[in-house]
Amino acid sequence: MKTKIAVLVSGGGTNLQALIDAQGKTLVSGEIALVVSNSAGAYALERAKKAGIPTVTLLKKELGGQEGFEAALVQTLEDNGIQVIILAGFMTILSEHFTSRYPRRIINIHPSLIPSFCGEGYYGLRVHQAALARGVKLTGATVHFVNEIPDGGEIIAQKAVAIQPGDTPEILQRRVMEQAEWILLPQAAEEVSKLYMEESR
Ligand code: GAR
Repeated sequence: MKTKIAVLVSGGGTNLQALIDAQGKTLVSGEIALVVSNSAGAYALERAKKAGIPTVTLLKKELGGQEGFEAALVQTLEDNGIQVIILAGFMTILSEHFTSRYPRRIINIHPSLIPSFCGEGYYGLRVHQAALARGVKLTGATVHFVNEIPDGGEIIAQKAVAIQPGDTPEILQRRVMEQAEWILLPQAAEEVSKLYMEESR
């Protein structure tokens, strides 16, 4: 039996696509059983549908805010027998109430070398804007376990990416995705899925 994975998304879903494409290749110990979005228009939902993966959309404003959202999320994950959760461009910070239910069972991809350019307020293009503004010559991506501290959980994997003269946040974002995120996330998904299988034997 493969580990049942839920991927949580908010936007374009290129990291979700990398996970879908890795199934049966890099990702063999786990299967993407569900995609959950907190945004109705997320293109990631189309990617999931094309791959035949069930989707659920949970909207904070319809669920009475963060608490109602997390309660609905827990119910959805339980109903679907989810064992490992992957945050792939998921733009909501989860409370300790939620994260403590799944110790070392939630992973996140962040588009910088943590502890640089991370924590509250650092997400998406903002991370790359901050790296360029600071003038660092190397950035990258980090996959880490998720705990109650935003971007503060144990680091699983990191990959460095060079900044080039003339980079814009958009150009840099794309390079970090291609050279780091889309490689690291499927590898980490496999590692954590395998670990789950071993620990639940
Ligand atoms: C990715 O670069 C991901 O690392 C980042 O948002 C982008 C989502 O793209 N996540 C964060 O900033 C989380 N703090 P995608 O929807 O195409 O995967």
